[in-house]
Amino acid sequence: MNREDIPMLKNNLIYFDNGATTLKPQCVIDSVVDYYSNYCANSHRGDYKNSLIVDKMYDGVRNKIKKFINANSKSEIVFTSGTTDSLNRVIFGYFKHTLKAGDEVLITESEHASNILPWFALSKEIGIKVKYIPLDDNNEVSLENVNKTISDKTKVISLAYVTNVIGDIRPIREICSIAHKKGILVVVDGAQSASHIKMDVQVDDVDFLACSAHKMYGPTGVGFLYGKFCLLDKMKPVSYGGDMNAMFTSDGYMELREVPIRFEAGTQNIAGVIGMGACIDYLNSIGLNKIVTHEHKLKEYLVSELEKLDNIEIYNKNNIGNIVAFNVRDVFSQDVSIYLDKYNICVRAGNHCAKILNNVFNVNNTCRVSFAFYNTKEEIDELIRVLKRISNIYNEIL
Ligand code: ALA
Repeated sequence: MNREDIPMLKNNLIYFDNGATTLKPQCVIDSVVDYYSNYCANSHRGDYKNSLIVDKMYDGVRNKIKKFINANSKSEIVFTSGTTDSLNRVIFGYFKHTLKAGDEVLITESEHASNILPWFALSKEIGIKVKYIPLDDNNEVSLENVNKTISDKTKVISLAYVTNVIGDIRPIREICSIAHKKGILVVVDGAQSASHIKMDVQVDDVDFLACSAHKMYGPTGVGFLYGKFCLLDKMKPVSYGGDMNAMFTSDGYMELREVPIRFEAGTQNIAGVIGMGACIDYLNSIGLNKIVTHEHKLKEYLVSELEKLDNIEIYNKNNIGNIVAFNVRDVFSQDVSIYLDKYNICVRAGNHCAKILNNVFNVNNTCRVSFAFYNTKEEIDELIRVLKRISNIYNEIL
């Protein structure tokens, strides 16, 4: 689907590493080049024509994101450098000031490092306790296990909407409903979901949502944080500097600007934000529902083809989604990846930054295929053809 839009696909590249980053359509690349070539200026600082164009483009992207996730207001969208940055800002800007020693935060062992390590760091700083919601037999989060793990000390549940190795889709709407009845806030890591499922922050009722543009066909180094306005209004900035302040005086007095500008200190990644706006337009033009259906069919097809091979172990065949994690028996996952690369096939191998997932899988490393809309059945056929010859691996790559 829409393969002609992606310049990187011109050289017969088979790109199955979309969980790490997606390839970029020409229109996104053009939007970034257009900014640098035709109207480059800083945002919120100048009174000349180009500067005003930049302000309109930059702030316009907030509105595009608001519509994309159905936020209530564009003031609920903060530009960040990506999901990791967004999560750190919430954890150290909001929860550091509202949690106390002994309060519990629930995560799972299948979270990405960016939704584990900031909580560990906060635990060391202020004494909160990180607890794990056990995963069920399918390595998914069940509502029963959420209910069982909640205690009267639980204050936050922080989960990926879609995990980056298992690829399971969490019942976020139901989890928010359970949590809110008990006064618990829900933080959602949207890195792997933003371009693979339709998210609606008002219907789901999530409190915070963190996303990266580069996994949505947009530029690297840019993303956004959504927060309910009443929560962002209480959040403290983690950076102070230009543009985010309304005034300050020599005796240390300062007044901050309104939400969300108070969270965007210093010159922002303007080209990135404009590129993020272009990728949202692009995703809307294809339609998320069409993408989701296509990717789920590809996953089913890959699982069915891999199951015909007798030397493959698949770890997440029963989960719906766009990710397949597998190993070739007796071959180290990174060797498989290097071998596939000889045939121009890109997969990720290793622990995928989910370093405590081995408590669940009992393996440290896997090969991961993660699909995008531009992948095809024919590419899967080529992957299977190459995997069938893998007994040659050590003659070919050594
Ligand atoms: N978080 C990215 C991945 O899963 C880098 O590959």
